Amino acid sequence: MIGQTVSHYRIVEEIGHGGMGVVYKAEDTKLGGFVALKFLPQDLMQDRKFVERFHREARATRALNHSNICTIYDIDEAEGVHYIAMKYVQGKTLDQLIARHGLRVHEALKYAVQMATALVKSHAAGIVHRDLKPTNVMVTGEGLVKVLDFGLAKRKRPPNDLGSQLHDTGRDTPSPPERDSGLWTDMGMSGNEHL
Ligand SMILES: Nc1ncnc2c1ncn2[C@@H]1O[C@H](COP(=O)(O)OP(=O)(O)O)[C@@H](O)[C@H]1O
Ligand SMILES: [Mg+2]
Repeated sequence: MIGQTVSHYRIVEEIGHGGMGVVYKAEDTKLGGFVALKFLPQDLMQDRKFVERFHREARATRALNHSNICTIYDIDEAEGVHYIAMKYVQGKTLDQLIARHGLRVHEALKYAVQMATALVKSHAAGIVHRDLKPTNVMVTGEGLVKVLDFGLAKRKRPPNDLGSQLHDTGRDTPSPPERDSGLWTDMGMSGNEHL
């Protein structure tokens, strides 16, 4: 992928990967500057369930406009691949920071407060992240926390919709208690969108 152009993004380098995609740093050849592009893996592209989940991730994040949540610019398909374009966060994931020298108490508190602030915003919008872990949290050089990866996010159901079944789209992920409470629905799957 390195050196290739997808839409108007020129891929510069791979910056990370997880269960649901490979993330590249890319140059925006229209506006200038860099973005992060997350690609849906080839093997999941034929699976409608995962394509929908990819769209839900983008919608969930887009609905949350907050300085501690990574900004989504776009979701699109080009040259046969599905990708999300988002703000390129220059920094390190929490697991990289912790592995390097652990965290001092004041650093841990500073990051925890920002993560909690992001979750307050998210929960106020009726969205639960469900996959908060060190690889999904980045910290910039200035100490600003950016929560990433709303790939497993769910939206709180309206009270009259409590009886419906949950749709589990996770891939080998732990189950936080709220995930199985029956109060949450996959983003975009219920037909009761309020985003
Ligand atoms: N916007 C971004 N800026 C910089 N690095 C990113 C960005 N988004 C993701 N990454 C890197 O890519 C990794 C995987 O991204 P993530 O969205 O968590 O994918 P997955 O759904 O596959 O877990 C992250 O742990 C991080 O290292
Ligand atoms: Mg992740």
